[in-house]
Amino acid sequence: MSDIYDKVIELAKRRGFVWPSAEVYGAVAGFIDYGPLGAMMKRRIEDIWRRFYVIREGYYEIECPTVGTEAIYIASGHVKGFADTMCQCPHCTEYFRADHLAEGCGIVNAGTLSKEDLAVAIRTATCPSCGEVFGETEVFDFNLMFQTTIGPGSQRTGYLRPETAQGIFTDFSRLSRFYRMKLPFGAVQIGKSYRNEISPRQGMIRLREFTQAEAEIFVNPENKSHPGFSRYADYVVELWGIEQQQTDADPVERTMRAAVDEGIIANEYIAYYLALTHDLLVTIGIDSKRLRFRQHLPDERAHYAIDCWDAEVRSERFGWVETVGIADRTDYDLRAHAHESGDSMTVFVPYPQSRTERRKRIVADMGVLGPKYRGKAKAIADALAAAAPGPEGAEVVVDGEAIFIPGDLYTVHEEEVEVRGEEVMPHVIEPSYGIDRMVYGVLEHAYDEEIVDGEERRVLRLAPAVAPVQVAVFPLVNKDGLDAIARTITADLQEAGILTDYDDNGAIGRRYRRQDEIGTPYAVTVDYDTKEEGTVTLRDRDSMEQVRIPTAEIARVLPSLIRG
Ligand code: GAP
Repeated sequence: MSDIYDKVIELAKRRGFVWPSAEVYGAVAGFIDYGPLGAMMKRRIEDIWRRFYVIREGYYEIECPTVGTEAIYIASGHVKGFADTMCQCPHCTEYFRADHLAEGCGIVNAGTLSKEDLAVAIRTATCPSCGEVFGETEVFDFNLMFQTTIGPGSQRTGYLRPETAQGIFTDFSRLSRFYRMKLPFGAVQIGKSYRNEISPRQGMIRLREFTQAEAEIFVNPENKSHPGFSRYADYVVELWGIEQQQTDADPVERTMRAAVDEGIIANEYIAYYLALTHDLLVTIGIDSKRLRFRQHLPDERAHYAIDCWDAEVRSERFGWVETVGIADRTDYDLRAHAHESGDSMTVFVPYPQSRTERRKRIVADMGVLGPKYRGKAKAIADALAAAAPGPEGAEVVVDGEAIFIPGDLYTVHEEEVEVRGEEVMPHVIEPSYGIDRMVYGVLEHAYDEEIVDGEERRVLRLAPAVAPVQVAVFPLVNKDGLDAIARTITADLQEAGILTDYDDNGAIGRRYRRQDEIGTPYAVTVDYDTKEEGTVTLRDRDSMEQVRIPTAEIARVLPSLIRG
């Protein structure tokens, strides 16, 4: 029996939302094409995302290559650690994710088990491909990055990026100058990421090439108060916190302010982006009753994160699907790139008021030290200052050579200096969205079927702002000048920036059904009264109600109905 997933995917393929990629050659799992309607809907969702993050939050968008050099991914830890546990069926030789098989055997949080424990856990698992029981098998790590080489005959290894984030981190110093060194600041990126997923069997949910929309927000570690927190402080979101997972209790509703005060959420930044994410997902058409926020358990959290939440969207077939991850990544990434690249990756943060500090300044008597040390006066003085020597003398290392400098060869001056601030390595707050999962969630939650006049009506109840076709225009009949009026209305709407579909093909009821199925929110019909009275009918997709409005008003009324 087909479930909603089958119905949504059947509709999505037939009507040009999503297709298996390169189907003519036998599609490969984990790759999809967006057809004409899907590509438009995805673009609209990305543009709403931009409205939230670029326009409202003020984080500019950048665009980095999808191929990165090895150094980037050594620093980020992906070369060493971005792996899933894999096993091979001893009977049919297909590969599977060992943690997924273990979860199928009832193990909770199998991702946290060692390879040895996983091998034991999956002994009784049934192979999803051949149906045999696994028995003894080895579990090993499989790095998910696609590897390539850069340049012909080159020895330079490159990787397709597994997340868009690293491009933002490697641009940190230029970004901090762009933002005139003033924390907090952020940058966003929307683009393709690649993960060589092991046997992806979940259609649009687990892809090998997918679109991420990520924001990397650089904050002062001493001040994680979001400047706009009051906007969302009283926003109520259903949270599925750590204790709730362990006790299986109902999720709780909390205002963001209370959750921060109670220590459930690490800081205002995380709370703010949980609420903003709720707001954004509901705006694009995710049903709030099928949306929850789940906090990672401490042993599930990435080692660099001090708090991490997933926005999970309910799917009838796949259960709760992680669609957005919101994490406090601390200074892990900047520290790693600073270490690997030699760039400082810090920002000078001025104190609210400059302070005076007593500092020791050391002057060495170079004449007495002798010609060997000529030209090294500053290096010796700096080494002495770092050693903070007493009057008896000190051993210092200059250019790799240890030298003992007796106390009578230098003088120590105490002086007061004015200190205006300090170099700080920012922490990163990261809301990371999976656009393909958002597109699928919106399609599943919008899908509806009902019986109207004894016939099945399939309708995508898409928000007008994400519907690919925004208005359909129909002449009742294709003659008597009705078609010419309908074409003029179509042209006027197109001029106003509305994607409009002119359709004069078939019975009017069929034309409505075709538009309902692709989620077109409004239909305008030109009939004989249009010629007589100068009015048209405007039909609302969801209520199917029709009102008459003056033809001249259409190009003014519809854009505001659609854009809100
Ligand atoms: N920079 C952080 C990061 O990449 P993630 O949780 O691995 O975090 C973020 O990915 C989002 O990207 C996920 O919540 C999910 O929506 C999406 N995503 C990850 N892997 C995916 C895949 N194989 N197919 C489709 N979407 C995926």
